[in-house]
Amino acid sequence: MKLLVLPGDGVGPEVTAEALRILRWFAEHRGLTLEVTERGFGLVNWERHGTLMPDETWARIEEAEAILFGAVGSLDQQAVIPPEERRKGSLLRMRKGLDLYANIRPIRLPEALLEASPLKPRVARGADFVILRELTAGMYFGTPRGVETLPDGTRRGVNTHSYTEGEIARAIRFACRLARERRGHVTSVDKANVMEAGALWREVAGRVAREEFPDVTLENMLADNCAIQIARDPRRFDVIVTDNLFGDLLSDAGGAILGSLGMLPSASVNDRGQALYEPVHGSAPDIAGEGIANPLGAILSAALLLRWSAKQPEDAAMLERAVDRALDAGARTADIAAPGEPAVSTSGMGDAVLRELSLLQGEA
Ligand code: IPM
Ligand code: MG
Repeated sequence: MKLLVLPGDGVGPEVTAEALRILRWFAEHRGLTLEVTERGFGLVNWERHGTLMPDETWARIEEAEAILFGAVGSLDQQAVIPPEERRKGSLLRMRKGLDLYANIRPIRLPEALLEASPLKPRVARGADFVILRELTAGMYFGTPRGVETLPDGTRRGVNTHSYTEGEIARAIRFACRLARERRGHVTSVDKANVMEAGALWREVAGRVAREEFPDVTLENMLADNCAIQIARDPRRFDVIVTDNLFGDLLSDAGGAILGSLGMLPSASVNDRGQALYEPVHGSAPDIAGEGIANPLGAILSAALLLRWSAKQPEDAAMLERAVDRALDAGARTADIAAPGEPAVSTSGMGDAVLRELSLLQGEA
């Protein structure tokens, strides 16, 4: 497998290094074939090459089968860079340019982290669902967009929420296929009561599910209601499918169940066999370079890579089990440690997962 590694800014390089160590373990012990290329992304490119996206890097991105991505820099730091350049080197360009429309965000609360959840144990225990966020359309990309000056000299900001039937249908199909592998239940989330594009979303979702996935149960839910249900009864969800902006918000809400965004992995895939894997947490510039960031979001993203790109579901499950066991054994980075509980470093957490992988391999 041709793997492109883009560690990026902030804590990106630290957490990506741990995910890569884990993948190399699978190459050494479980027959994973990896051809790794690494390139800068974000501010390092600006400093080294005077552009956020050298053409050569973009060419690598376009040809990669799998991309392991860390994080991109903070808005403050990027403020000095011209908007045109920022767009060239943005995560959004990568999502759109590769047509990575299906963003898979699994949210599963490991039993060992019940204490870290802000929800009551009886509500949170066993929460296990996936948010399928449409990633290449909607509010993030719709036109017209921009800021215009009105005749009276005041300004107006415009963004457009737009979805074609085709864009909706392929997201729904993806979610239904996911549900088939899980508990067969899809919650499609929209604001059909207010937005025309939301009403179309609901209509297309219903049609696709009925005609193509009679074995899958589809329910519709309004986005505001979904936000409260995630906090009140997260176990009722299996697969949530929604648009780009609602998916952004609801996946953070889902992350709160685990007490830390540091735990959340994601995969973004297209229909041409390409995928981008990234932890959900972002660059966290305030703790960058300290070796304390939680690498489990990146490591669990590597598990998604084993499942979706390497097509090794058993290896993916093995890695997820190793993460659970490392947590059971008490490994905690600062973000998930209870007050007063000792915390391990970023690489200490990587070590803990590698140790459990070796043990699991020995038991097999
Ligand atoms: C996410 C992030 C991104 C988004 C930002 C960094 C552009 O919040 O992946 O959820 O809004 O999509
Ligand atoms: Mg987000």
